[in-house]
Amino acid sequence: MAEIKTISVIGAGIMGRGIAHSAALGGYRTIIEDIVPASLRRAETEIRANLDKAVELGKVTKEAADAAHARVEYAGSVEEAAREADLVIEAVPEEMESKIEIFTLLDKICRPETILASNTSSFSITEIASVTYRAPKCLGMHFFNPVHKMKLLEVVRGLETDESTLSACSEVGRRMGKEVVVIRESPGFITSRINALIGNEAFNMLQEGVASASDIDKALKLGLNHPMGPFEMVDLVGLDTRLHILEYLHKTLGEKFRPSALMVQYVKAGRLGRKSGRGVYDYPEQAKAEKVKASK
Ligand SMILES: NC(=O)c1ccc[n+]([C@@H]2O[C@H](COP(=O)([O-])OP(=O)(O)OC[C@H]3O[C@@H](n4cnc5c(N)ncnc54)[C@H](O)[C@@H]3O)[C@@H](O)[C@H]2O)c1
Repeated sequence: MAEIKTISVIGAGIMGRGIAHSAALGGYRTIIEDIVPASLRRAETEIRANLDKAVELGKVTKEAADAAHARVEYAGSVEEAAREADLVIEAVPEEMESKIEIFTLLDKICRPETILASNTSSFSITEIASVTYRAPKCLGMHFFNPVHKMKLLEVVRGLETDESTLSACSEVGRRMGKEVVVIRESPGFITSRINALIGNEAFNMLQEGVASASDIDKALKLGLNHPMGPFEMVDLVGLDTRLHILEYLHKTLGEKFRPSALMVQYVKAGRLGRKSGRGVYDYPEQAKAEKVKASK
């Protein structure tokens, strides 16, 4: 099994930042890249803030946090980020065309032995891998949000993924502090398939006027022991990301995953969740920060 020392993360959004944070804490040289420079700058600020917070809470020593911070590099292009990587983890938006574009490029840039992983929440790894000449070295590594706190990693086996790729990436997950489940690819894997269904049904209930958003959240937390309500969760995930997942599940698994009309409307209105300052709920602080950024 090839030893993994350098991990590249492509896409520095909600997930990419967290993956880079956990990879660096796991001891890996970590190179992160984003097509939008502001996103990369924000990733740097957030990684630093989250590491500082972990030290404050006594979860990480100051030495470990400083070492992790020193292990993260911020690259100006995919080429710069990926050419020395042993493992590349793609975390660009949940759109098949974007994944295909990145995997085609990575296959050209990376050394033949480099493993290519996608953090897709739902798509077929086999389909993504088919645009490369290294399908046995392609797999899914599905992390959870916020990555530095969530314990699970779904390692997803495509049709041609080989055993050594699965074991190398399971080991990476463990060194990043995760519990690993290995699954055969299937739309939405284990978690997105169930979570998208619950979240979509919550929107259908809100649209029908069954209860308010906060009462639906309260009911699932206090009655069903969910740690977060479905609307708190979708605001964290991003309504656009959830909609992309549902559209794919609807196409592949059928009618029960048809996206709620209300969710579609929210996305059209730009109510994407915490990241845009407004989703099902309002996040005035975040909205203010976005406005300042836009005016610069
Ligand atoms: N948000 C979640 O809770 C969650 C959880 C698990 C998995 N995922 C999956 O992770 C992936 C990323 O989701 P996210 O929530 O981080 O999205 P996001 O919108 O927060 O971030 C995506 C980032 O990718 C960048 N990007 C777009 N095209 C790029 C390109 N060609 N090269 C480099 N960077 C590019 C964007 O500028 C943005 O910063 C998706 O596949 C999503 O389904 C998301």
